[in-house]
Amino acid sequence: MSRLNVNIDHIATIRQARRTNEPNPVSAAVICELAGADGITTHLRSDRRHIQDYDLIALKQAVITHLNVEMAATDEMVEIASRVKPDVVTLVPETPQEITTEGGLDVVAHKKTIKQAIAKLNDHGIFVSLFIDPDIEQIKASARLGVFQVEICTAQYAHLNEQPGDKTVRRIEAIEKEAARIKAATKVAVREGLKVAAGHGLTYRNVAPIARIADIEEFNIGHNIIARAALVGLDRAVREMIAAIREAQGK
Ligand code: PXP
Repeated sequence: MSRLNVNIDHIATIRQARRTNEPNPVSAAVICELAGADGITTHLRSDRRHIQDYDLIALKQAVITHLNVEMAATDEMVEIASRVKPDVVTLVPETPQEITTEGGLDVVAHKKTIKQAIAKLNDHGIFVSLFIDPDIEQIKASARLGVFQVEICTAQYAHLNEQPGDKTVRRIEAIEKEAARIKAATKVAVREGLKVAAGHGLTYRNVAPIARIADIEEFNIGHNIIARAALVGLDRAVREMIAAIREAQGK
């Protein structure tokens, strides 16, 4: 059975909107673990738009399952990871102004930088996973770099799934084709001796066809879970505030 790592970045996004101290990503990580998550994933971005350096230190202390930190292959990030020592670092591409990670790493084009980052992280006892598109060349290049795992980017698959109102046969075929591409890429990765994770843009609505790919051992899912948590928790949160006000007023 595959594992689920919950990406708790967007708990920090809410906190950073007010630069306050809640909600705390560590509290969220503990709740995810209590609910059965197999691990916690978090992304330290160069612009620190959500997770901060101190969150990583606190998460490292609090997470008892598995801590996967996504980051760019820069000297700054590698140095931070080497100090924090998460279980796994997933190297991802990062471009300024992007709203979220826009696709997989180009391992072929950036081989030298990625290789250096992997060597430094491995020296500190940290396993490295590479976030790549479901592309055979990228998988083979990743295998040659000696990483233990690749995470296949499902962003394109997710994007095709989330076109409101477009139920055309052409779109359904495009979704099936992309799911087949992910399946084929998984097969090649396994043949190359790699473990396979998948993630980005997966939702309660689109996860099933990807979850049926038997060789995918790990899913990293964040935004959709946190978005749903905000809505399914809102009813209770409002009732609790009404109760707090009424209680203060003796009503
Ligand atoms: N995997 C990687 C490498 C990512 O960069 C992200 C987003 O931070 C995720 C998984 C989770 O994506 P989502 O928040 O869309 O579920």
